Amino acid sequence: MSAPKHFLDLDQLGADTLADIIANAARLKAGRGSAGKAAVVPGAPLDGKLLAMIFEKPSTRTRVSFHVAMRKLGGETLVLQGAEMQLGRGETVADTARVLSRYVDGIMVRTTSHESLLDMAEHASVPVINGLTDFSHPCQVMADILTIEEHRGPIAGQILAWCGDGNNMVTSWMHAAAKFGFKLRIACPPELTPSADVLAWANANGAAVEVTTDVTEALADADCVMADTWVSMGDKNADERRGLLQAYQVNAQVMAAAKADAIFMHCLPAHRGEEVTDEVLDGPQSVVWDEAENRVFAQMGILDWCLG
Ligand code: CP
Ligand code: NVA
Repeated sequence: MSAPKHFLDLDQLGADTLADIIANAARLKAGRGSAGKAAVVPGAPLDGKLLAMIFEKPSTRTRVSFHVAMRKLGGETLVLQGAEMQLGRGETVADTARVLSRYVDGIMVRTTSHESLLDMAEHASVPVINGLTDFSHPCQVMADILTIEEHRGPIAGQILAWCGDGNNMVTSWMHAAAKFGFKLRIACPPELTPSADVLAWANANGAAVEVTTDVTEALADADCVMADTWVSMGDKNADERRGLLQAYQVNAQVMAAAKADAIFMHCLPAHRGEEVTDEVLDGPQSVVWDEAENRVFAQMGILDWCLG
């Protein structure tokens, strides 16, 4: 039996594969008709297939967009809350993976620890998809790349600027920088820098990634400005983080340091008045609702690759 096609992190996949997934996502979006949002695409490529989705953390977008994406491809989903499974009573991740692999065609996991995701993938005989861990969020970055290309054309060579915590989103952005050939500038406080190992991997693999404490320097000539919550799910030191990140808020004055037509992106949920102000989030440069919508199409591309 051939190995399952897991979608765990962007560093694990070839640049051509990732570009093909984005191209397929764009094609699927362009081909959507005026029928309902969950209308099945011609050919229903995932007819008869079932995706289990395990959530150990809250979710709005990931849960709904994966459900819609599966439906549109002709498949079905099953939502499982980690705490309600025997996992919550000590059944191992490995045994859970072995059992679920006998019932479903793919497993999407949102987990508190990246090791659990890797454990699931190691023991599953069906594809496992990373729906966010404490380490990374690759499905979101695929949707973001689709969004940038829609608004600003091919991503290669563009300058993307991140303001804030060097968190799970930043891991996936650093992986993506090595695969898609854009420049990534990360402005963050010294206490909240991104993973040094991932940064070293990215730069050793041809990525152009720079880390600075200076927001204005990061945003100079940027095509896209990005922010995320200052307190990710599972972070414990919320007050300390808010203190460290005050200077990294994206407001109108900060946006003015980027290109005049730069776009603003945020994976959402946003904490208005913290990492981003209303004037930016609701302003003309914001593409956050397109970005959220594109989770459906990016994940259709991912699901088609994994399960098709
Ligand atoms: N951006 C994102 O993953 O949102 P949810 O936490 O709502 O799934
Ligand atoms: N960094 C955030 C992303 C939420 C989609 C978190 O992990 O909570």
